[in-house]
Amino acid sequence: MSPKSPLPTSRPRERAFLVGMELRSEKGLLPLEDSLAELAMLADTAGLDVVGRVTQRLNTPNPKTFIGSGKVEELKFLVEETQADVILFDDELSPRHQRELERVFGEQVRIIDRTALILDIFALHAHTREGALQVELAQYEYRLPRLTRAWTHLARQAGGGGGRAGSVGGVGLRGPGETQLEVDRRDIRRRIDYLKRELEKVRAHRQRYRSKRRKARLPVVALVGYTNAGKSTLLNRLSGADVYVADQLFATLDPTTRRVELPGGHLALFTDTVGFIQKLPTSLVAAFRATLEEIADADLLLHVIDVTHPNALAQAEAVHETLRGIGAEHVPALVVLNKIDRLENPAAAQGTMDAFPRAVAVSALRGIGIEALLDAVGEQLYERYVPVEVRLPYEEGALIAMFHELGQVEQVEHDRRGVFIRGRLPGRLLARYAPFEEN
Ligand code: GTP
Repeated sequence: MSPKSPLPTSRPRERAFLVGMELRSEKGLLPLEDSLAELAMLADTAGLDVVGRVTQRLNTPNPKTFIGSGKVEELKFLVEETQADVILFDDELSPRHQRELERVFGEQVRIIDRTALILDIFALHAHTREGALQVELAQYEYRLPRLTRAWTHLARQAGGGGGRAGSVGGVGLRGPGETQLEVDRRDIRRRIDYLKRELEKVRAHRQRYRSKRRKARLPVVALVGYTNAGKSTLLNRLSGADVYVADQLFATLDPTTRRVELPGGHLALFTDTVGFIQKLPTSLVAAFRATLEEIADADLLLHVIDVTHPNALAQAEAVHETLRGIGAEHVPALVVLNKIDRLENPAAAQGTMDAFPRAVAVSALRGIGIEALLDAVGEQLYERYVPVEVRLPYEEGALIAMFHELGQVEQVEHDRRGVFIRGRLPGRLLARYAPFEEN
């Protein structure tokens, strides 16, 4: 049995027209067309049918309508011709752009941006209480400055909870009009305060659980990667567990942790994490900070890459960027090139393979390369001793003791600032000492 149920399919699907814009001065991580292809997948995951797309390259966004006025006219024509219900922008629109576009396109068409879409998908996939609270918070933070007629009905749902308010794939999103606005804003602010308080409680609980886990001293291996790279499939394969796997973006929202035995009998905790994506909404990263910080706290990262994806390298870069953004760049990482069973023409993936010469190649689906991966993890955590120099303040007594117990100490010096230790540490402990490293 899967712990998560798939998306409902009976909902009427709305028709979406995609709009991509590229600034000449700012090259995105993905080429414009590829970013739009990704947006189309996101739309499909959210239950929208893509009926067309337009792109534009500009020097600067139009201050009013984001895209140029000529493009607006073209889009009006195309939207009418394709009978689109929704115009979906590949970039986050400012509240002003959103308002102006709503004015230009009128009541019949809804304007949605990539951020709102991702938030909506997250809302559909949040299954734990913490996940639901985090997404709802992100949704309201995003909506507050944009509150116009399209969202006004939502405020009256505030207080209902669930984080599913206002699915973009749903119908009947129109509210009664702007007169409600102020009331709605106040309600939303109240709801935001409530969500923050609730999240604090959940986090306090999580913190206690985390320190218990730390005491158990089992190393934590976090699977990270671009959405759809195959993290859940790999966790299933590694642990024999039944984690929800779906060919959908962001199927995994709430972290799942499994205990896995490594060669040599050592144990490690493997944890699945939310998939990353380019242009991940900042409101979402902020709301998910606590969950994402667990990644920064892991002892080892398995960076899972779909080696068959034409944009595998850009996706890997998006993952690196997010890791840097959440302060996890210090955690040692092992690259896992997944889906090798699908490589009809291995030469096509040569670039990706060359970029990560120390990577382990696997097929999580077919179970190829799993032994080698577990060997590599075991070696990284237990066999590889890495030279380090750290300065530990005296209040870090536990870390000082652990260095002596589990590491190989070569030199110790005490002074006012704490203990300086030069020596070697097993790979699984490196991340914990990283904040104290001396260069
Ligand atoms: P998010 O939840 O979006 O972060 O995705 P994820 O990285 O957890 O990916 P998931 O495990 O859900 O897999 C995504 C899709 O890729 C599913 O359809 C899997 O069956 C497929 N998949 C995963 N691993 C492999 C593999 O080794 N080979 C092939 N051919 N398909 C795979």
